Amino acid sequence: MAMDSAGGPQRDTWGSKAAFVLAAAGSAVGLGNIWGFPTVAGQNGGAAFLAIYLLAVLLIGAPVMLAELIVGRHTQKNPVGAFKAIMPGSLWSLVGALGVLTGLVILSFYTVIAGWTLAYILKTAMGVFGPGADTAAIFAEVSGSPVSAIGWHALFAGITIAVVVKGVRDGIERWTKILMPVLFGLLVLLAIRAVTLSGAGDGLAFYLKPDFSQITGSVVLAAVGQAFFSLSLGMGAMITYGSYVSKKDDLVSSAGWVTGFDTTIAILAGLIIFPTLFHAGLEPGAGGPGMVFVVLTSLLSSIPPDPYGGIIFGTGFFVLLAIAALTSSVSLLEVCTSWGVDEKGWTRKKAAVMLGGVAFVIGVPSALANGAVGWLSNIPGVGMDFLSFMFLLFGQYSLVIGALLISLFVAWVWGVNAAGDEVRASGKGFALAGAWGFLIRFLCPLAILILLVQLVSSLF
Ligand code: PFF
Repeated sequence: MAMDSAGGPQRDTWGSKAAFVLAAAGSAVGLGNIWGFPTVAGQNGGAAFLAIYLLAVLLIGAPVMLAELIVGRHTQKNPVGAFKAIMPGSLWSLVGALGVLTGLVILSFYTVIAGWTLAYILKTAMGVFGPGADTAAIFAEVSGSPVSAIGWHALFAGITIAVVVKGVRDGIERWTKILMPVLFGLLVLLAIRAVTLSGAGDGLAFYLKPDFSQITGSVVLAAVGQAFFSLSLGMGAMITYGSYVSKKDDLVSSAGWVTGFDTTIAILAGLIIFPTLFHAGLEPGAGGPGMVFVVLTSLLSSIPPDPYGGIIFGTGFFVLLAIAALTSSVSLLEVCTSWGVDEKGWTRKKAAVMLGGVAFVIGVPSALANGAVGWLSNIPGVGMDFLSFMFLLFGQYSLVIGALLISLFVAWVWGVNAAGDEVRASGKGFALAGAWGFLIRFLCPLAILILLVQLVSSLF
């Protein structure tokens, strides 16, 4: 790490604005878009969910993204340090601590699912998904055997740790630049194949023709939670990434690009999954964490020429999905690592290895929750498997609470004027200051608060 003139460590920064946008998009685009979005949309009514999701991204997600980036760049700190820097001695640093804990738990199950993508690279390359392949049985084998599930989980966690140990510039930036655009192109091709399958029309109708009577409070909460998960918000990942942004860069357009790119990928994933699902005669709401793996691989045998089309597309797809997952898992561990480095004074290596190791251990029950251990696969009294439960608690609720607290902090404690000055520091003005101020002060906190009150009251 370079030293500044005062002899203190100088913070690593991204090579350029485009590099930052790609890295932040790398954090945002991941399993949440391709695995999470279609699963949650399928469980919550399809098109009605999509409509609410888009509103949630625009009115709640994008303003919170900007708020996190502002806090990060202003303080140049990890989430805990950032709150301490703006409000020394207050309890607000606990919001940062909640973020670090949330990142650790999300990472713990994230590497389990990402581990399945590694196994699927091998399976697709071996041509396992030919015509008539039982894709559900193959998923059960990959995720249900303890050795396979824990082994792939360990491998993915190990790769994540290795990338984070190398640091921002060398580790994260180099990969994302090249591979994000390739992933996008492949998704477009898969979507074209999916919408031209027989029976695709019903899938498109389910996904694109909203039946607004389906919208309930829990659909809205699921949409908001999914928006935060997908955009990497609510736990300080964007505070951490924002801390490496140069003062010259315009934060508003960066937030816009990341949000737009992430949302486009999620929409594309739905265009692949729902037509294929209806083509195969499957139920959109059923299936749990394996749904996307089962459905996607059933598409492969219909890609010409047989069998090479399926093998090439399938392998390419899972390689890219694994890489998209890696740029996200790296950002999860980066949040924890930057806390260990800044707040605990650990070396980057020690922080990444220790915290990544803890996440691996916490993830073991999630790895065993897809058939390997009965009670973890269907927790008594909870009605879902351990991995889905962790996703709900930490991947959704905790992020929603974190985002509420972050927006309250920026809007009402620090103040929109001070935050706006950080945006203007780039010299490019802040044309959307009024709109952003309104959303972050009123709409974001109120909407989230109402949803949470409603959730809590529905428990009693
Ligand atoms: N946004 C990532 C995804 O969609 O897969 C997951 C994620 C990464 C969530 C980083 C939260 C986070 F801080």
